[in-house]
Amino acid sequence: MNIEERKWEIMFDENAIDSKLTELGNMIKNDYKDKNLLIIALLKGSFIFCADLVRKIDIKTLRVNFMTTSSYGHEEVSSGRVKVQSDITISDITDYDVLIVDDIADTANTMNFVLNHIKAKNPKSLKTCVLLDKPSRREVEFKPDYCGYTIEDKFVVGYGFDFHDKYRNVPYIFNVTNELR
Ligand code: IMP
Ligand code: MG
Repeated sequence: MNIEERKWEIMFDENAIDSKLTELGNMIKNDYKDKNLLIIALLKGSFIFCADLVRKIDIKTLRVNFMTTSSYGHEEVSSGRVKVQSDITISDITDYDVLIVDDIADTANTMNFVLNHIKAKNPKSLKTCVLLDKPSRREVEFKPDYCGYTIEDKFVVGYGFDFHDKYRNVPYIFNVTNELR
């Protein structure tokens, strides 16, 4: 499908995303102000969300680290078999209150895998934050601790979300309809 020729339906524009991130940032600040926050962002999908979110969390001492996972098979449909492509670079996280940040919880196979992977490193506490949640698509049970928006089963693009690894830099989140422009 050539998505350039199709109608782009904006789901969340820049202003909506900005105010949602302010809300999330304040909640996280209140919950973690007396803790030792380490954010682990999952690449590549969450790179824009995380960059904007950390600037909304008014805790100067928070740390950020990254992890890249990949699922076998087709990019858009995660196959339940997730593997670590690159792990976090902090060897001892036992003193940290970890918040895993991802772009979306879809089947939740990725989050489920990453939660177990990080849990095994014995962080002081462990929570999750996603910008979008598609609960109707679950293959494993998962409920994010912080969530921007709950959406229906629609394929979203932009603001870090890709279509064949492209359009991640579009500054808003959109859905492609079947109609031509
Ligand atoms: P999971 O199915 O919850 O494991 O999600 C795996 C990954 O699929 C997410 O981190 C996203 O990168 C990707 N994904 C799921 N739904 C969408 C979507 O609507 N647009 C773009 N990527 C998606
Ligand atoms: Mg992803």
